Amino acid sequence: MADEARVEEQVESSLIIRIISELFGSPLNLALLGICSFLIYKIVASRRSADSIPAKEPELPPLKKQDFTLEQLREFDGKGAEGRVLIAVNGKVFDVTRGKRFYGPGGPYGLFAGHDASRALATFSLGEDALKNEYDDLSDLNSLQMESVREWEMQFQEKYVYVGKLLKPGEQPTDYTDTEDEEKTEVDKKSQ
Ligand code: HEM
Repeated sequence: MADEARVEEQVESSLIIRIISELFGSPLNLALLGICSFLIYKIVASRRSADSIPAKEPELPPLKKQDFTLEQLREFDGKGAEGRVLIAVNGKVFDVTRGKRFYGPGGPYGLFAGHDASRALATFSLGEDALKNEYDDLSDLNSLQMESVREWEMQFQEKYVYVGKLLKPGEQPTDYTDTEDEEKTEVDKKSQ
């Protein structure tokens, strides 16, 4: 019995040693570990600072349904007077202001604010090169990456308010005056 327990202990400790040497043995793994630790730190820190704010920030009035060009989207990076944050995912623009601790200035995903985050989300990258200055049709992404973008889109759809489309170059904005009542119901549901 004691022998069995000793063997089990040895197996466990050799497994731990293998995991540690795998993590620290390659510069790539070390870099990934560093990025993950940094993101966890930023998320925990933003949670703490949100907890220490005594009164909840008043919610912004919902935006009227409208389409955006990339240039128009850039104005909503959370640094404006109103502090509103918009992000595009797979051609759809979402108001993510209620997720400001993620996307606001200084947040772990603050670089997405006012941008099309599709490529960054698809490739799991937080580098500036995943955020293009011109319209990104994502045509070079593979099917797995496109699947991942669609999953992110669904996640955003569930959590945040959809505001309108991200316009392709030359595309005309839609006139949403007839659909405003439906939109109000959608916004009310999300804010509950
Ligand atoms: C590699 C290490 C990473 C770790 C440990 C990490 C950790 C986390 C955690 C814990 C959350 C949930 C926070 C919460 O609900 O309180 C989160 C959310 C999120 N992460 Fe990461 N993440 C990592 C990398 C990335 C990368 C590379 C991207 C994008 C390119 C990304 C994009 C997001 C987004 C968009 C959210 C959702 C925020 C929301 O709910 O609106 N993460 N991450």
